Amino acid sequence: MAFSLTPLLIAIICVLIGIILKGSKKSTKTEQNKVNKKAEVRPWVDEDLKDSTDLHTEAEDDAEWQGLEDNIAHIPFSAERYSEEDMVKRSKDFYELLNKRRSVRFISDEPVPMEVIDNVIKTAGTSPSGAHTEPWTFVIVQDKEMKHKIREIIEEEEEINYKKRMGDRWVNDVKRLRTNWIKEYLDTAPYLILIFKQVHGILPDRKKKTHYYNEISVSIACGILLAALQNVGLVTVTSTPLNCGRRLRLLLRRPANEKLLLLLPIGYPTKDATVPDLTRKPLDDIMVVI
Ligand SMILES: Cc1cc2nc3c(=O)[nH]c(=O)nc-3n(C[C@H](O)[C@H](O)[C@H](O)COP(=O)(O)O)c2cc1C
Repeated sequence: MAFSLTPLLIAIICVLIGIILKGSKKSTKTEQNKVNKKAEVRPWVDEDLKDSTDLHTEAEDDAEWQGLEDNIAHIPFSAERYSEEDMVKRSKDFYELLNKRRSVRFISDEPVPMEVIDNVIKTAGTSPSGAHTEPWTFVIVQDKEMKHKIREIIEEEEEINYKKRMGDRWVNDVKRLRTNWIKEYLDTAPYLILIFKQVHGILPDRKKKTHYYNEISVSIACGILLAALQNVGLVTVTSTPLNCGRRLRLLLRRPANEKLLLLLPIGYPTKDATVPDLTRKPLDDIMVVI
């Protein structure tokens, strides 16, 4: 009896394995199809990149979206040309200037001319952007009451981040920077710059415009802004107010297509300001020449 059952059992097991394998192949195929479909709809998105760029699926709401102007004049271009000696000097001078940049968490209330802020924001606005969509909004807050409201929101959320939301490792990693949820600089700094990425544009006829690589574009603009601030002797601390985006956006009456990326308090350092004694990686560790 046992001998006659074995071939039958083996046959049943084989059929079952066959069914299971077919099923798994099907589901991998469906997954792959989904990825391919996504890639077809958003070909500019590198699946590997996985930044939080919000994108629409054109198939679902094509009528709401407007393509970019395709007829644009091309004009001659010429750039400043320096001698090699000058290039070396300029590159060294610029490095030395930026190497002095530090994140400063102690900012005095000494006033800063608004014209300087206009110029550094204009400089940030020279940034390249995906398909020249310029997906940034820089909100400058100088009103004392508004700055205090921002501080209240951030401290409330940050206290929860420190005590509940974030794990022990994060709390430990930021300990050495001596930061916590108390952010006095949000009151003292003469200006707070809140930088929003526009996840898509809104045209005058209410149609939407795709903002390709909006997060990368705005991040590059922020880098240029940090350099511009360093160039005029102002300090800031690059901050990412966690879980505050929506509340701050509503407080500042910004539309829903704008998401808070960074908050930069701007001013002069206080006389007794300190910074953590950090070192930077040497060139050999950050550059590979092939
Ligand atoms: C994307 C980003 C987010 C950051 N978020 C915060 C933050 O929320 N709070 C803070 O105190 N510093 C923040 N920093 C500042 C870093 O801690 C700081 O750049 C780093 O310690 C190196 O110091 P340095 O800027 O003085 O060279 C952030 C920096 C970056 C680039």
